[in-house]
Amino acid sequence: MAEIGLVGVGVMGAAFALNLVEKGHRVSLLDRTQDKIDDVAATARAQGLSGEVVACVAPKDFVASLRTPRSILVLVPAGGPLDVVIDSLTPHLDKGDLIADLGNSNFRDTEARVSAFEAQGFQFLGIGVSGGEEGARSGPSIMAGGSRNSWAQVKDTLSDAAAKYEDVPCCDWFGPGGAGHFIKTLHNGIEYADMQLIAEVYGIMRDGLGMTAADIAPVFERWNTGPLESYLVEIAGEVAGAVDSVSGGSMLDMIVDKAGQKGTGRWSVIEALHLGSPVGMIAAAVEARNISAARGARFRMEASFGPAPQWLEGSAEDRAPVIDTLEQALIAAKINAYIQGLEVLDRASAEFGWDLDLAAVARVWRAGCIIRAGFLNEIAQVIDSGGSANLAMDGGFGQKLVETLPALRVVVATSVSAGLSTPALFAALNFHDQRRTSLGTANMIQGLRDYFGAHGFERYDSKGEVAHGPWGEQ
Ligand code: 6PG
Repeated sequence: MAEIGLVGVGVMGAAFALNLVEKGHRVSLLDRTQDKIDDVAATARAQGLSGEVVACVAPKDFVASLRTPRSILVLVPAGGPLDVVIDSLTPHLDKGDLIADLGNSNFRDTEARVSAFEAQGFQFLGIGVSGGEEGARSGPSIMAGGSRNSWAQVKDTLSDAAAKYEDVPCCDWFGPGGAGHFIKTLHNGIEYADMQLIAEVYGIMRDGLGMTAADIAPVFERWNTGPLESYLVEIAGEVAGAVDSVSGGSMLDMIVDKAGQKGTGRWSVIEALHLGSPVGMIAAAVEARNISAARGARFRMEASFGPAPQWLEGSAEDRAPVIDTLEQALIAAKINAYIQGLEVLDRASAEFGWDLDLAAVARVWRAGCIIRAGFLNEIAQVIDSGGSANLAMDGGFGQKLVETLPALRVVVATSVSAGLSTPALFAALNFHDQRRTSLGTANMIQGLRDYFGAHGFERYDSKGEVAHGPWGEQ
């Protein structure tokens, strides 16, 4: 009997299956395509992996091959394909069997599935998995949600397969229902913001400073050895430095500037709006992808308005201080991206009664996932020692912001005057500036609302009473 089943031997499923087999597990695989399973079995043999593969193409045989109570991991695209798999398995399941969805599902769908499964006497977990193909094979970051008892059934196997940060598995259970998928969604929201920030500073170097991709690659490499140390900055250096074997020139210059998206960034923004938690940087990143996709419109607009001018036509020495300023600006912006993401989690935890441990969230993001970064260990420590999601109020991160915000201000101001679009950097600065302003401007909003709709407002000189203005009387 196999200890665990895995459905969906696509790129991620195959990599995760090999990871489990490498850890010595006997894994039953189910896929409609026998060849894909045979490939995994052949790779496992060729690599001398210690576990075993059991190949199945029929759901009934697959379910029968598993030790009870059964644990079935599903790695198929979220939505329709997942429902098809679930429907094909459930007629063969016994009470107490467990299905774990390891895809990027919307947490609201996961909540519904957990309830429906539990009502039928089955178990369901919604598990966010991050790290791409390489992570799935060598150790991803794993964020689980569902019942704690269900988690106990697969915890050891998944912890075995997860990335390790100083021997601690980046794998945890966070709360009931869709908590795991919600955390994965916000992980991706931060991923969107991080990537957009990287793209913006790349754009400033390319269009503002006139640097080539080959000039830019070593900048990211150097940044990756300092406070910005992270997987995304590391691979930005590799992407910028790669040579296209067809043209012989820069690979990056051959990539059409239209970004795709599958929905998790958008869901982060939608859920944050429902919760009333600001995520301007993630929203800017989603919108930048949307605008990038409308390439024809951009060409027509540039023909009318002209391109943004380069702001510095100088030597490498002239650029050096500007590049240092960009690094500082990126640090300030990145801290604000974490603040936005963590605050959404905090708000969701209160709203849905999840009691999320944000330090534990930061800990599972320290290795294996796409947003892994040096900062995350520090964030975990700050929250562990009583700090809040608003890292700006922590002494260490607060000090970093004091030191780096002037650079962010310079970069945003210079980009704005040059006409270079930097929406996520801009959103980071505005987010910070609005939040550190004790006397804001919402009194005008309230005055206007009261004027046209008698919505009422609060006065400074009275407590809690609804007041109205003298509109129309004077
Ligand atoms: C990860 C990634 C992964 C995937 C995203 C990308 O954490 O491993 O986030 O889940 O790459 O789906 O999303 P977009 O296609 O929307 O950029």
